[in-house]
Amino acid sequence: MVRRKLIAGNWKMNCLSADGVALAKSVAAQVKAGKFDCEFLICPPFTLLGLVKKCLRGSKVGLGAQDVHFAEKGAHTGDISPLMIKDLGCSYTIIGHSERRVDHAESNQLINQKAVAAHAAGLNTVICIGETEKERDAGKTIKVCQTEINGSVPADSTAKNTVIAYEPIWAIGTGKTPTAADVQEVHAAIRQALAKKLGKATASKMRILYGGSVKPGNAAELLSLPDVDGALIGGASLKADDFIAIAKNASK
Ligand code: PGA
Repeated sequence: MVRRKLIAGNWKMNCLSADGVALAKSVAAQVKAGKFDCEFLICPPFTLLGLVKKCLRGSKVGLGAQDVHFAEKGAHTGDISPLMIKDLGCSYTIIGHSERRVDHAESNQLINQKAVAAHAAGLNTVICIGETEKERDAGKTIKVCQTEINGSVPADSTAKNTVIAYEPIWAIGTGKTPTAADVQEVHAAIRQALAKKLGKATASKMRILYGGSVKPGNAAELLSLPDVDGALIGGASLKADDFIAIAKNASK
């Protein structure tokens, strides 16, 4: 089964206009100049989506948001609807990132609702799951991932509209990563959980990204694993050269 790798940058709450424009332009130019056999996505903060879209015009780099509300519109102060995101030129949104699960107490049920709304609006979703360090130490990693898959991935998910990102929380922004064998084991278990929920055919086509301290130095090993179909990159996506260096390993 050939799954085209997705190299996605999650800028998180970083960049003002000038930095965001420079970063997006540099990524777009390097993608255009190079030879890559992967799909690219960058997810700037909401405030920069319109500006970054302009920088990506004519490039193969897709645009995504970092979150979305489940309602179409209405009295939800401070929130952004799927159609608003679509209107700005996004094709994707991240949902259920651990920073949102923790900072905003987002539940699997809420994430599921958000994914349904995003899909209904024609957006693709990157649904994030992953265990804490305590859960890993207690041997609960696979159980936690199964529970999060069951709760947050909606029944309408297809290999086209949904990408899963496995991000061990203890590996995010810490410089620590699981061993390659551990990553492969968890990704295979995630694919099994997806098969149980969505059927074997869908699960075998659905992309599962790894996220958590992906850098140019560890990308080759991580991206060569059979069930790793790309990366969700935080810190290293803020440097165009690092982001591109990581992507070079997805093209092999
Ligand atoms: P990191 O973040 O690459 O900075 O560890 C990854 C993420 O949270 O998506």
